[in-house]
Amino acid sequence: MIGFKLWPGRLSTSEQTSLVAEVLAAVEHAPWVQPVTPGGKPFSVQQTSLGPLGWVSDRGGYRYQATHPETGRPWPPMPARLIDLWTELTGWAQPPDACLLNLYRGPAKMGLHQDRDEGDLDAPVLSISLGDTAVFRIGPAEGGRTTSVRLASGDVCALTGPTRLARHGVDRVLAGSSSLVPGGGRLNLTLRRAA
Ligand code: SIN
Ligand code: FE2
Repeated sequence: MIGFKLWPGRLSTSEQTSLVAEVLAAVEHAPWVQPVTPGGKPFSVQQTSLGPLGWVSDRGGYRYQATHPETGRPWPPMPARLIDLWTELTGWAQPPDACLLNLYRGPAKMGLHQDRDEGDLDAPVLSISLGDTAVFRIGPAEGGRTTSVRLASGDVCALTGPTRLARHGVDRVLAGSSSLVPGGGRLNLTLRRAA
């Protein structure tokens, strides 16, 4: 798909290990949340965020907000290396102001959706995969045929330009395909321009 960019193995094993450690240390101050849809259905992933804004879903709807929904505290800062990676790979002039963390354990998956809660729908979304391989699905915004792409640990991809509003999701995660994430599973980071 035009505008879907994939950098397989962009992060080395040592970069992946130190990034997971940095993110999990930050999560000590912004614990994982089991979100629910506005209709009250629980997500199978756990989520939290880093940076000035974080994405939240609850009975009040989908939105970005400046504080963690349970602690009420600001989200932990965005690691500098994530801002650098965004600038290098996307070339976007403004830095990301939100990094959503999705933790997939066991049968967790994510249904097809569009990312459209951001204030700037022209700015890319940059996704970093860590841990177990995801069976990722992507298709046109308008609907129609989707394709399956495997995202392994260290892979980075972006939704840009004509693919910015692509429908995408995670069909499943291949348990045990990586031992990177303590306790197992997959950690996905998505960098966005939310404001
Ligand atoms: C997302 O769409 O927010 C996450 C996608 C992924 O986990 O790869
Ligand atoms: Fe998404």
